[in-house]
Amino acid sequence: MDAEWIPPEVDGRRPSVARVYDYLLGGAHNFASDRDLATGLLRIEPKARELARANRAFLRRAVRTLAEAGVDQFVDIGSGIPTQGNVHEIAHAVNPAARVVYIDNDDVAVAHSRSILVGDERAAVIQADMRRPAEILADPELNRVVDLSRPVAFLLVAALHLIKDEEDPAGIVAALHEAGVPGAHLVLSHLTHEADPGKTAAIGKLYDRATSPAVSRSHADILRFFDGWDLLDPGLVYLPLWRPDDETAVEDRPERFLGFGGVARRP
Ligand SMILES: C[S@@+](CC[C@H](N)C(=O)[O-])C[C@H]1O[C@@H](n2cnc3c(N)ncnc32)[C@H](O)[C@@H]1O
Repeated sequence: MDAEWIPPEVDGRRPSVARVYDYLLGGAHNFASDRDLATGLLRIEPKARELARANRAFLRRAVRTLAEAGVDQFVDIGSGIPTQGNVHEIAHAVNPAARVVYIDNDDVAVAHSRSILVGDERAAVIQADMRRPAEILADPELNRVVDLSRPVAFLLVAALHLIKDEEDPAGIVAALHEAGVPGAHLVLSHLTHEADPGKTAAIGKLYDRATSPAVSRSHADILRFFDGWDLLDPGLVYLPLWRPDDETAVEDRPERFLGFGGVARRP
């Protein structure tokens, strides 16, 4: 393990959710332990790569929609290992002055994000744990790049399903709501067991040995994360149904993507 993208402190033996996701998306920042877990995942869900891509496509559409609506600050929590179409690239294509802060607790995700953002004053990466939102919101680097007294879009994309109920995922969203001003936004996508409880239970079991669990939730439970926010049309829907664009494949069975996505505004 001596490639330049591998930080010295990294533990390559335990599968990391960030690196497994990187592998599914065709990235090269992963180890044998990650590919082994991904192989197990592909056995349970042979279309897992497509699901990961549909999640990234939701992220792209949501960020572009908000940037086009004038949102110019983004805080991407559980941002992952940089891949094609990162938030700062999507936002800058619409507004080159947009400010973006990435937050992740994974060593490889943070090191690689840092390396691609060198010299970019409009973006930063912070290594932090989303279970401690107050620390994130008080971070000096975050407050250098974004101004919390102006509207910010908070992203929790494929992130809250890595947080167990007893770790208070609703408390994370509530802290963001409290920190945001009217006009702040929340972009959220989440694994659900609505369509195939057996499959998501098997995925949950598999992720027991990863760095974070995979906690699927019902539509009603995920909807509750939006308490106090106004959901934008079309609401909390299966990923490909959120404002599909020309690049979104028409889907007969959107529930097979096992994930809901929604975007909301703080009134
Ligand atoms: C599945 S990836 C999603 C990446 C990106 N948001 C996307 O949707 O394409 C989830 C990310 O959350 C990060 N993560 C997991 N638990 C975390 C925690 N407690 N605090 C911060 N990041 C965390 C993982 O390291 C991983 O990079």
